[in-house]
Amino acid sequence: MQHFLTETDFSLEQAQEVFSLARTLKASRLNGPQPLNMQSWGLLFYKSSTRTRISFEVGVNELGGFPVVLNSSQTQINRGETIADSAKVMSRYLHGLVIRTFGHDIVEDFARHGSIPVVNGLTDFNHPCQLYTDLFTALERYSPDAVDIESLKGKKVAFFGDCASNMANSWIVSAAMFGMEIALAGPETFAPGQAVVDALNTAGLPVNYTFTTDPSEAAASADILYTDVWVSMGNEAEAADRIEQMMPYQVNRQRMAEANPDALFMHCLPAHAEEEVSREVLDNPQSIIFDQAENRLHVQKAILAKLVEINT
Ligand code: CP
Repeated sequence: MQHFLTETDFSLEQAQEVFSLARTLKASRLNGPQPLNMQSWGLLFYKSSTRTRISFEVGVNELGGFPVVLNSSQTQINRGETIADSAKVMSRYLHGLVIRTFGHDIVEDFARHGSIPVVNGLTDFNHPCQLYTDLFTALERYSPDAVDIESLKGKKVAFFGDCASNMANSWIVSAAMFGMEIALAGPETFAPGQAVVDALNTAGLPVNYTFTTDPSEAAASADILYTDVWVSMGNEAEAADRIEQMMPYQVNRQRMAEANPDALFMHCLPAHAEEEVSREVLDNPQSIIFDQAENRLHVQKAILAKLVEINT
């Protein structure tokens, strides 16, 4: 059973096919193929969501399937039913399952115990659907006629803020997979952790990211400046301390001026203007945040279609 729990679950060749299909699906949104015809896909959320929830629900519907949206707190999981039993039961009704949750072990356990494809809609470790969408959105600028993954090679991504976060982990793995350079900048206490090094080693990818406490060093000659909220879901108790520590890493006019003149600003959203990014940068024409948000729909449809193709 092919799942999509991490960026490296697809080969480079399969990733290229996903991006090419996403481009086709975007161009023919309402009259495209319906590979999920007569299928029901569960969308299981342990955490809040706007983009992931809507884009998957709409996407499953547009692919001809029926989305079954589940809030974990309203299932028997909330009353102690095991993941193993839940996965087995859901596999008897559903054709696939998208999960947004806390520990990465939860999506792995669903995949291990169930018999349907599982898609990671964000865990505390990574956010691969967001990353594939981000790469596709950059490719729309770099190679608009073909969204060719070769055009990612050598591009420099600068990531600012919490460099041990799920988005940072996903960028580190993706940069290694697609041949990009990545420089991360943040407070020393938010440096990338051992878990992402383990993930690179497991995938046979090089550990060649750089981490610095100097945001100017990371921004220098960058092609993409990327940040995420400083207070992620689950970190609310540390909000004031995080904001104080990370303020030097705000993406603002100065950071953009240090990057390449045509650098893109990207953010997975939701954004907190004047915290991790200035309002000026968010609203700048170099900001492609709403293209990213829209492309969640097209790229995730392509991911689902690819999983159905591989697993059939
Ligand atoms: N970027 C993202 O995953 O957005 P949501 O939390 O709204 O799903």
